[in-house]
Amino acid sequence: MGHRQQKYRFSLIIVPSVFLMMVLMVDGSNKVPAIIVFGDSSVDSGNNNQISTVLKSNFEPYGRDFYGGRPTGRFCNGRMSTDFISEAFGLRPFVPAYLDPGYNITDFAQGVNFASAGTGYDNATSDVLNVIPLWKEVEYFKEYQKKLKAYVGDKKATNIINQALYITSMGTNDFLENYYTMNDRRSQYTIDQFKVFLLGIAENFVKELYGLGARKIVLTGLPPMGCLPLERTTNYFGGNGDVCMESYNNVALSFNAKLGVLVKKLNGELPGAKVVLSNPYFAFLQIIKKPSAFGFETSATACCASGMFEMGYLCDRLNPFTCTDANKYVFWDSFHPTERTNKLLTDYVLKRVLNVFF
Ligand SMILES: *[C@@H]1O[C@H](CO)[C@@H](O)[C@H](O)[C@H]1NC(C)=O
Ligand SMILES: *[C@@H]1O[C@H](CO)[C@@H](O)[C@H](O)[C@H]1NC(C)=O
Repeated sequence: MGHRQQKYRFSLIIVPSVFLMMVLMVDGSNKVPAIIVFGDSSVDSGNNNQISTVLKSNFEPYGRDFYGGRPTGRFCNGRMSTDFISEAFGLRPFVPAYLDPGYNITDFAQGVNFASAGTGYDNATSDVLNVIPLWKEVEYFKEYQKKLKAYVGDKKATNIINQALYITSMGTNDFLENYYTMNDRRSQYTIDQFKVFLLGIAENFVKELYGLGARKIVLTGLPPMGCLPLERTTNYFGGNGDVCMESYNNVALSFNAKLGVLVKKLNGELPGAKVVLSNPYFAFLQIIKKPSAFGFETSATACCASGMFEMGYLCDRLNPFTCTDANKYVFWDSFHPTERTNKLLTDYVLKRVLNVFF
């Protein structure tokens, strides 16, 4: 018990010092005028609310720890990494969704989110649950640029577009929702060929963003996706015990390594660009393996409902099993971390990777 408390205190000391450092870094700096987000449910702040898909989270208990206890469409009890990053750069403490009718270009001039839960690099991934494909996110970005120019003028808009921080976070669904669930890609590609196929799309995507004026680009690595409660449950019922699916974790590890190689290549090929890999895999795995060292009670099951398989509509307000304090859980629903986990991982990434942009 004493041992455990000591470790907890240790993390309590680390977190405020990271925060202090961020405040110092942000002070007086306006180098990043906007945060522009592309990706999946790890960063979607409400775009799926506006489209016809079953993959939504704009109802309670989602968002119960967000401003006003409001469900926004974030797959979380509170804020996500991109919200914390925006705040760390001295911008709004959250990044609104492009399709959210409650916001317009006045808001989006300092941050806009094109992400769609359930999407991926591969068009076939977004087809599974009828969500916004990556190419369409880019089309929305082009439309945004026009609106931005009309709002602030060409010169200022170009400056915002060049200096903004572009954060992209996707890939998990390409493997879990698409490759390992549907037959098409699996019959077409070996797992290694599929990784190469996705990396080709990622490369073209970054080059397209660059062509559209982006210079500061963050690619996010995959999480230890075999440890998501949903995959642990599947593993358990597959007779393998209540442990992470190591084969999925290994896919994530090797994909992240290949992303690292791609990032080096892109920096060599795109003059004036700074592309970085944000890879929270190991920090996340540490939290999952030793939740108590970070003040959590468990990482094996999620807060919402039974914590074993529910997300989206299965994680509903009336479920009596939903936990009362999400801060004790690493995972909010069977697929997504809690706000507290997001905050810990974001602090880590701000200090180790995104510091080059302050
Ligand atoms: C954006 O919304 C605000 C508040 O609703 C409104 O005052 C403003 O005129 C709108 N701006 C544009 C460019 O539509
Ligand atoms: C995805 O679909 C879009 C629109 O049909 C198409 O332009 C693009 O080439 C497709 N991407 C890939 C990698 O097939």
